[in-house]
Amino acid sequence: MSKVLVTSALPYANGRVHLGHLAGAYLPADIYVRWRRLKGDDVVFVCGSDEHGVPITLSALKQNTTPQAVVDEYHISNGAAFAAADIRFDIWSRTSSPEHHALAQHFFKKLLSKGFIDKRTTQQYYSEQSKLFLPDRYVEGICPRCGKDGARGDQCDSCGETYDVTELKEPRCALPGDRSTPVLKNTDHWFLKLDAFQSRLEAYVAEHAETGAEPWRLGTLRGAQGWLKQGLRARCITRDTEWGVKIPLAEADAAGKRLYVWFDAPIGYVTFTQQLFARRGDPEGWRAYWQDPACTIYNFIGKDNIPFHTVIWPAMELGYNDEPDPGERPYNLAAQVVANEFLNFGGEKGSKSKGNAVEIGEFVNLFGADPLRYYLTSIAPEENDSNFTWTDFAQRYNGELADVLGNFAHRTLTFTHKYFDGRVPEGRLPGEAEERLRAAADHACKASAESLDRLRFKHALAVAIDLAREGNRYFDERAPWKQRKDDLEACGTTLRICLETAAALGLLLRPFLPESSAKLLSCFGLDRNAAHAPGTAARNARELVLPGQTLGKPEVLFKKVEPDQLPAP
Ligand code: MF3
Ligand code: ZN
Repeated sequence: MSKVLVTSALPYANGRVHLGHLAGAYLPADIYVRWRRLKGDDVVFVCGSDEHGVPITLSALKQNTTPQAVVDEYHISNGAAFAAADIRFDIWSRTSSPEHHALAQHFFKKLLSKGFIDKRTTQQYYSEQSKLFLPDRYVEGICPRCGKDGARGDQCDSCGETYDVTELKEPRCALPGDRSTPVLKNTDHWFLKLDAFQSRLEAYVAEHAETGAEPWRLGTLRGAQGWLKQGLRARCITRDTEWGVKIPLAEADAAGKRLYVWFDAPIGYVTFTQQLFARRGDPEGWRAYWQDPACTIYNFIGKDNIPFHTVIWPAMELGYNDEPDPGERPYNLAAQVVANEFLNFGGEKGSKSKGNAVEIGEFVNLFGADPLRYYLTSIAPEENDSNFTWTDFAQRYNGELADVLGNFAHRTLTFTHKYFDGRVPEGRLPGEAEERLRAAADHACKASAESLDRLRFKHALAVAIDLAREGNRYFDERAPWKQRKDDLEACGTTLRICLETAAALGLLLRPFLPESSAKLLSCFGLDRNAAHAPGTAARNARELVLPGQTLGKPEVLFKKVEPDQLPAP
């Protein structure tokens, strides 16, 4: 039994999570967690809200409320949205918790005392009108590269170039109700000296290159290497704001400043594991996951988070590990950083302001969790961006879930109930066609296990649907509705093999479709919590389908979607 820690990126608590988030960092993680548990591994799955950051204070400003009220609202609604999609975190916590603030401050002090953090004087734009230092994105002006007006502080949407905010021409504030001209002001900040970790991080990333034991996806690897190639530089890890984790220093100039959200957020993975074990009455239990090299850590993220998970957070851990507290062992670095590309809506990135993204609750209320999980996995943006549309969903749902999978399981089971009294028929010795279908099931189980182990979820799911297709083909060829009249025993053989195949499908779909697979497997008497051994799902399926065994009555798993049930695009 291996120990595994799985994390999903902590979503910002100032907006509702949508299908794009789900497809990127939560659904694949949940599938992987379920898979490892089925294999009998000891898995902990942590997540929670990322509740700091200047954007949250600006959301509050816009809504005429407080940052606390904003995060309270979204922490609850996002937790509910994940639960509705059957994403089962062991803990759904939040970075505003006192334990988290304390641990983030502890990390800061450790890195400061080791000389990995220092203080520098910087120049920042300041709005006299709003009495605020302005984050880059709240300054706009004329692009210093192409001359176009309306360019954002650090990047031009028109030519795509990035630059320093101070290069922007004719800068103005981009705050709600504030278009005044900002002024440059001196302000002190603390910097994390990433350059001190250059060679250690290069070694870490190289371990996960294509040839490594836990190779990262190409996109993740390229993202990490890109950063390293440019040469790491010190990075500012504090902000002029009243919202966030306080800088744990008595100095007067620490007042009015907080830790940068990206400094504290990844520490949340640790805090939440600690909180989980504290709740379980085992306050030291978290160390078996974070400070014992026998545990493997998997971070599931969207591609925009790659540098933070492959460079900055590992640098923080490495710095800490230089001198852990007495009695502590070094922190484990993630073995896998599983980054996904984006799921787009109508060809565009889902965005809060455009309101083009579909919300999780909206989808689940219409069609349920399993159809959502199915569709998002079948178009998973594993290697490339992909695109959500309602009509594509309906086509795949009807064409694959209803017609192929649901139909095969349903007709096999109802036929057995009708003509064999709901018992698995003995039949004759399997012939060539039967052996072929059994071999296909064996092969599917192996291929699916291998793909899941390699984090290729889309492929693992496709393998199951292909098996169901084979099953339907075999059923049609054998035509048991005719066999029944000519040769009841031959008909029994057909049904027995189809039942085996249906049970194998139930097993194959467990990580993906928790409800539907549990319903299907309950017909074969398998409890939803029973584990199954890796790569042996086919054999297990045969053991579930012993001649003479009574089968449960099937339910229709997937009712067809009619066009008028779909929301307007
Ligand atoms: N809140 C960030 C985002 O949504 C992700 C934070 S992940 C963590 O992009 F590692 F920092 F927690
Ligand atoms: Zn430009």
